[in-house]
Amino acid sequence: MIRVGIITASDKGSKGERTDTSGMVIKELTSEYGFQVIEYILLPDEQKQLEDTMIKWCDSGKVDLILTTGGTGFSERDVTPEATKNIGEREVPGIAEAMRYHSLQITKRAMLSRGTAVIRKKTLVINLPGSPKAVRENLSYIIDSLEHGLAILKGEDGECGSLS
Ligand code: MTE
Repeated sequence: MIRVGIITASDKGSKGERTDTSGMVIKELTSEYGFQVIEYILLPDEQKQLEDTMIKWCDSGKVDLILTTGGTGFSERDVTPEATKNIGEREVPGIAEAMRYHSLQITKRAMLSRGTAVIRKKTLVINLPGSPKAVRENLSYIIDSLEHGLAILKGEDGECGSLS
């Protein structure tokens, strides 16, 4: 069972000015794959708050996977990738590469997401863009490969024999 924490980074959402549809899409998609969402938080685009939450969830070992949405673009307030890189111990470039590779076939604007992925202790942290459409397009492309990576991270699987 993969335990998931969702962080939505949105100034408007955190002030109650916008419904967090993107967070709901993450919940829906991860549940379809049998993952269990055990943490959820809606935060303003504040780097320190984002980092503190990621550190708390990673270091307590309570979640295997943190999925963030929002704050990956070019606005001055978009700081989710900076927060993620700051708390990360190891980079996982292939996940962001895969998401952009896939997304660029849907929209050239995919190049505007600065999202990244890192590992801290036994938790994988992945940045998704902010719109519900972008969340669905990105997450649905990578989700079936995550289980194998997370099993290796947790020391439960070392076999990479299968090609899927
Ligand atoms: N990726 C996919 N698959 N689909 C999209 O519609 N939107 C892009 C990009 N990635 C998009 C996408 C756009 S328009 C922006 S500005 C960036 O994600 C950053 O989004 P964010 O600032 O909401 O995180």
